[in-house]
Amino acid sequence: MSEIDERAGDIVRLLACPACGGPHLIVDASSARCPLCSREYRRRGSAWNVSPPGAALAGLESKMAPGRNWRRLLRPGLSLNVNRARLLDMVRVASAEGAVLDLGSGERRLGDRVVNLELDLFPNVDVIGSALALPFIDGGFALVVCQAVMEHVSDPRCVVDEIGRVLQAGGRVYAEIPFMQGYHADPHDYQRFTISGIRTLFANFEEVECGVCVGPASAFGWMLTELAGLIVPTRVGKIGVRFAVGWFAALLKQCDRWLARRPDAHRIAGGLYFLGRKAPTSDAVASTPAA
Ligand SMILES: C[S@@+](CC[C@H](N)C(=O)[O-])C[C@H]1O[C@@H](n2cnc3c(N)ncnc32)[C@H](O)[C@@H]1O
Ligand SMILES: [Zn+2]
Repeated sequence: MSEIDERAGDIVRLLACPACGGPHLIVDASSARCPLCSREYRRRGSAWNVSPPGAALAGLESKMAPGRNWRRLLRPGLSLNVNRARLLDMVRVASAEGAVLDLGSGERRLGDRVVNLELDLFPNVDVIGSALALPFIDGGFALVVCQAVMEHVSDPRCVVDEIGRVLQAGGRVYAEIPFMQGYHADPHDYQRFTISGIRTLFANFEEVECGVCVGPASAFGWMLTELAGLIVPTRVGKIGVRFAVGWFAALLKQCDRWLARRPDAHRIAGGLYFLGRKAPTSDAVASTPAA
């Protein structure tokens, strides 16, 4: 069986009702029904729409606006992630063991067997739903990736409990959260975490590693770009100056290949990561889905 077929099988096997927690939705070609509360969920394009009741999608329209790819080409990425290759490796290894969830995947696909969950139907999304009430059964995933999402959720503790619930015993979580980054609503922006904060957030997991994934030079370049935008009063001027300083920051961030590995880098890092393991016995983390 190909990894893409395995992914389709994983989704049908793992889907659960986000409203009542009912496991094992009854799935046909275009709809899925909860055996407990009888709620019906429909397919939207190539994805299952398993959003919790009342989920608000306001603010996501800009992500699907025409011309966004051009804007992306003109504005270079401000952050260099020193863990990118390791993450892809982790996903490859975990995919051989079981299902992998990319929680808040955006538009990317980290691997063919990875189940992508997002708030709306972006490219590559398999399941439309919310991190606050994951539409999956308990203990179904070997690895959950949650990269640059925690700052966008109103209740990160609830999301961490949900990750613990859907992970199998001994399964792994790889999470990244920004520490020093400018405001970036996607669709909201609520918080940042220090190294102690991220450890406390994931205290119910056994820590495998915790450290810097986006270094201080990336953080500094982002601040510099924002600062330059503040100094210029007009909208066109802001775009021009952010563009110019943004390219300078794109060069500056290369220093993070070295700086991000310095022992004190977390003090002014752009982003931090936590790699953890769910206890082999499943009672160490919450086992009920959020309402
Ligand atoms: C900064 S992007 C990161 C995308 C991807 N993880 C990456 O690292 O490239 C944050 C993503 O989180 C998603 N997101 C925000 N709140 C969410 C929620 N409650 N449930 C699921 N996804 C959410 C957004 O739609 C957005 O695509
Ligand atoms: Zn239900």
